[in-house]
Amino acid sequence: MRPRCVELARVLKKTGSFYYHCDWHASHYVKVMLDQIFGESFFQNEVIWRRTNARSDPDRWPRLHDVIYLYTGCQRGYTFAPLLIPGDESKTPHTLITGADGLKYNTSDLTGSGMTDEGESGRPWRDFNPASFGRHWGYSHSQMDEWDVAGLIHWPKKPGAAGGFPRKRDEEPFVSHARMVQVGDVWTDIDRLNQTAKERLGYPTQKPLALLDRIIKASSKENDIVLDAFCGCGTALVAAQNLNRQWIGIDISPTACRVMAKRLRDVCGLREDENYWRHGKGFVVRDLPWTEKQLRTIPPFEFENWAVIALGGIPNKTQVGDMGIDGRIYPVGSEPSEAGKEAGQLDFMDDWYPIQVKQMDKVGRPDIDKFEAAMMRRKRKKGFFVGFDFSGDALREIDQFFRREHIVIVPLTVREILDETIAHRLV
Ligand SMILES: C[S@@+](CC[C@H](N)C(=O)[O-])C[C@H]1O[C@@H](n2cnc3c(N)ncnc32)[C@H](O)[C@@H]1O
Repeated sequence: MRPRCVELARVLKKTGSFYYHCDWHASHYVKVMLDQIFGESFFQNEVIWRRTNARSDPDRWPRLHDVIYLYTGCQRGYTFAPLLIPGDESKTPHTLITGADGLKYNTSDLTGSGMTDEGESGRPWRDFNPASFGRHWGYSHSQMDEWDVAGLIHWPKKPGAAGGFPRKRDEEPFVSHARMVQVGDVWTDIDRLNQTAKERLGYPTQKPLALLDRIIKASSKENDIVLDAFCGCGTALVAAQNLNRQWIGIDISPTACRVMAKRLRDVCGLREDENYWRHGKGFVVRDLPWTEKQLRTIPPFEFENWAVIALGGIPNKTQVGDMGIDGRIYPVGSEPSEAGKEAGQLDFMDDWYPIQVKQMDKVGRPDIDKFEAAMMRRKRKKGFFVGFDFSGDALREIDQFFRREHIVIVPLTVREILDETIAHRLV
């Protein structure tokens, strides 16, 4: 991880931000590593992301949160847009004051954290010296003079006393239901994706779009570049695209790259096309094992994932969980069939087609026999079998199976999938 983070720090713009998400296993080691790479003084936040609420653990406090570290390319002046949400109406802010007209007004700090020697922001204004509190003025002296003339500066009763610093007074009286508060570094309003979430693609570590949306909105502007060097199924890319940012995604796994390409096509309506990409539209995926020859050499698990995802299916989570079935296709419009069953189990949707994948030159009759048994066990009426080719016996058995049991097995070759000539056979 270190060499990768060093490179990411190297390409980070001065105004840019670097976010690193991890859990309790690694967070303390990662923080030390990132401090060394980016510099402690470029560290801005440790965000606590509470992913879940529903977990119990008889042996310890349930582990509910992950950690997201934020480092920036410079110490001040980097892109950051505070996020405001409606405040809790039942709470009265301690920053309220009573104006000369007897109404309540909210006030805000005129200073920012950290000292500076630059210009007047580090120098006293009206005998108040922010440096004595390790702070600086957030506004020019002339702006504060203007506000004072307009009666918009709240002066402390005892000037100079501890905490007695002038503050900016709101122009309008305080209305509790209109109060906005800034989202802090504890995020409890974004749940991890559950098994039935609409945006879920079956990619095990997929993050919620809302999380990436929040990060990208806060730390970049339109047309800025978002780089996710571990982008999995491309959540950051979709969020960046939706927010009109430019983006680059990197992932070591060909499966992940296939999933994200499909997602960018399906969800964002982008074309995977070199020409389009050259004109600032569309996108390209580089360095994938596209050829049959390359597909023969990737690990069987990667091959299975590739095939299932290429068919628009969802790979099985575990490789042993569902004997003889490597993935499932859920037809558009599938609906939960048993309301009582625990949501969170994909089984709760009964409308699905099994996929079996074999990274072999010729799928033979015994392979088909096993798939037939698996389909009968799961009471499926239609299924798909992927291989490089099928023996004559295998194809005859598929035919006889249909005559005997009225169950359809669709044989699909890798060549057909690569040529994208299978769409009509999937319906
Ligand atoms: C936690 S997942 C990212 C999930 C992603 N945020 C999403 O929403 O789908 C981490 C990803 O990093 C990829 N990865 C692991 N090592 C890598 C490396 N050395 N270079 C690039 N990607 C890598 C994995 O293949 C995996 O897809």
